[in-house]
Amino acid sequence: MATARAHTNIALIKYWGKRDQDLILPQTDSLSLTLDEFYTTTTVDFDDRLAADQVTIDGTVLDQQAARKVHHVLDLVRQQSGLTSPAWVTSTNHVPMAAGLASSASAFAALAGAASRAAGLDLDRRALSRLARRGSGSATRSIYGGLVEWRRGHDDATSYAQPIMEKVDFGIEMMAVMINTAKKKVSSRYGMQQSVTTSPYYQVWPAIVDYDMAAIKKAIDNRDVNAIGRIAEQNALRMHALTLSADPGFTYFTGETITAMNAIRALRDQGIPCYFTMDAGPNVKVIYDRQNRQPIHQALAAQFGADRLVVAKPGPGIQIWNN
Ligand code: ADP
Ligand code: DP6
Ligand code: CO
Repeated sequence: MATARAHTNIALIKYWGKRDQDLILPQTDSLSLTLDEFYTTTTVDFDDRLAADQVTIDGTVLDQQAARKVHHVLDLVRQQSGLTSPAWVTSTNHVPMAAGLASSASAFAALAGAASRAAGLDLDRRALSRLARRGSGSATRSIYGGLVEWRRGHDDATSYAQPIMEKVDFGIEMMAVMINTAKKKVSSRYGMQQSVTTSPYYQVWPAIVDYDMAAIKKAIDNRDVNAIGRIAEQNALRMHALTLSADPGFTYFTGETITAMNAIRALRDQGIPCYFTMDAGPNVKVIYDRQNRQPIHQALAAQFGADRLVVAKPGPGIQIWNN
C-alpha cells in the first residue's frame, strides 16, 4: 500500500491539443506553475481478493465507466510490474473537480506515484512524469514543484516534464477567483480535440506556442513577473480563441469570467500590475508579484467576495510514502 500527494499546476503556456490520443502526446510544449494550495492525495493498495479495481474519490465510489482513466493507468502499472491484482484506490481532492482548476493534473500525478510505489516499482521522476501523462496530459507537469516545462517529445519515451525552477526564488503568485466550481459541461479532453479537428485557427497555434515558450523562458530568467504575466495572458486568450472558433464553437467563460478579466485590466490601468489566465473552466487565475497582493485582493474581494479568492504560492513536487 502506498500514498502520494501531488499538487495541481496552472499552465502559463497552455497545452491544448494532442497528436496521439492514446499515448497523450501533445501538439506543443507547455509550461506551468505548481501551486501550494491545491492538491490531491491518493492511496493505492493491490489486493488479489478483489474482482475489479475499486475507485473512490471524495467518498464516492466510481462506476467502471467513470473510472476508465484510472483503470488505464493501473493497467500500465500492472504491465510494468508484472502484478495482476486489482487495486483499491482512494483519493481526496483538495481542489474542485472538473472545474478548470486542474484536478486531473494533481489526480493523475498522485495516482501514478501511489500506484507505482504500491506495485513495488521504484520509478524516477522522469518515469513518473511519463506515467502520469497517460492519465492526463497536464499531470505530466505535476510531478515537479515550481516552474515546470513539458517538452512535447516525439514518442512515449521522450514526452515528459522537467523542472525549470523547482524552488521559485522570486515573487510570483496566483490568486484564484472561484467563479463557479461546478463540473464543466465540456471536458478538457473533448474540448481540446474539438479545437484540433475543427478550428481553422489551430494550424497557427503551434507556432504561437513556440514563440511564447521562448519569450516566457527569457522572462523567467529575468525574474520579470510582469513579462511572464503579459505572455501568459495573451497565450490564454489565444487558447480560448481556439474554442470560440471550433465547429460548433464553445467557450468555458461565463459572464463573471469576463467581469473578472475586466477587473484585472482596470487594476492595471490604475498602475497595479496583474494579469489573468483561464483554463478549461470559468475560474480566473490572477498572476502578480506578491508585493502587489494586497490591492489586488482588496479590489477583487470588493467585487467577488473574499471567500471566493484563494491566494496560491508556488508549490512542491510529488511526495510518495509507504503506509
Ligand atoms: P480539470 O479542469 O479539473 O482538470 P478535466 O476535465 O481535465 O478537469 O478532468 C476532470 C476529470 O479528472 C474528472 O472528471 C475525473 O475523471 C478525473 N479526476 C479528477 N480528480 C480525480 C481523482 N482524484 N482521481 C481520479 N480521477 C480524477
Ligand atoms: C487548459 O490535461 O486536463 O488546463 O490530457 O485530456 O486529460 P487531458 O486534458 P488536461 O488538459 C489541460 C488543459 C489546460 C491547459 C494546461 O493545463 O496546459
Ligand atoms: Co484537467
